[in-house]
Amino acid sequence: MKNLAARLLLLAMVMATSGCAGVQSALMPSGEEAIEVDLLFWTITGISALITGLVVVLVAVAMYGTPRWRARLDRDWIVWGGGIVFPVVVLTGVFIYGLIVLRSGDVRVREAEAPGITVVGKRWWWEVVYTGPDGEPVTTANELRIPAGRPIAIRLESDNVIHSFWVPRLAGKLDMIPGRSNVLTLQATEPGLSRGQCAEYCGGAHALMAFYVEVLPEEEYDDWLAHEASDARPPESEQEIRGQEVFMRNGCGACHSIRGTEANGVIGPDLTHLGSRHSLAAAALPNSKAAIAAWIFENQHIKPENLMPEYRIFEPEELNAVAAYLESLE
Ligand code: CUA
Repeated sequence: MKNLAARLLLLAMVMATSGCAGVQSALMPSGEEAIEVDLLFWTITGISALITGLVVVLVAVAMYGTPRWRARLDRDWIVWGGGIVFPVVVLTGVFIYGLIVLRSGDVRVREAEAPGITVVGKRWWWEVVYTGPDGEPVTTANELRIPAGRPIAIRLESDNVIHSFWVPRLAGKLDMIPGRSNVLTLQATEPGLSRGQCAEYCGGAHALMAFYVEVLPEEEYDDWLAHEASDARPPESEQEIRGQEVFMRNGCGACHSIRGTEANGVIGPDLTHLGSRHSLAAAALPNSKAAIAAWIFENQHIKPENLMPEYRIFEPEELNAVAAYLESLE
């Protein structure tokens, strides 16, 4: 029986922790702030587990102990000490530790250079604006790339409702509030991929408002940014040329921009280098030609309430051509 209970407890622990594994796990920190939050979490969890164990032992002694042991618990100081002094000391200590962790974020904000990246919360995706090599803004969407090692200040804004920017592996969350500019500093310890998620309920497709953060080695970052600042690759194959023509003719450019073409809409995500991103539609879909076609044709089924209408007017040939064109935009 005892064996069974132990096994069930182990199983529950494994199930609870496996739910947090991977690119979006606060328990696998890869940023300075997340490492501090992780340590705070394990410290509080450890203290709580120790105290729970102690209470269980004391209850067991009080219920089943010998009369001599039970008499030892029957003292006033146990109530004063264990019921008031001990909790006040422990909770004050944990509280101060929590404040120190909070404050160290402020220090990082001061150390970081002025924000060169702005992320704007949209319904329900993320607009990302970098400062390009020549100082011009470079707009992209639903993916953030930052260099490893140094503190990167990111300006967080919204022009609609409140969102919350959270990349659990890198740092704590910070709200994006209309009319305000909040600054969050990310300092990734090593290159790698993390996933972020909007952490404030913001309406219809809130649950599908996610994104990827790719941390690049410092020396690769500048090359990547220079490429990101460049215009879109012109269509090459016959199908891509046909796709661009269908895209322009059907007014897709009224909402989406593809730099270097006549598409200059600012309502939906910029598509200039769509093909190089990890996901589509704010991490709602993997990035593939089939997924692009599916998104255009039945996006309300994939991400209900998103603000893009479904384009069911396209013939299969047109749909494939548009998808091939957009996929080629690396
Ligand atoms: Cu944006 Cu929730």
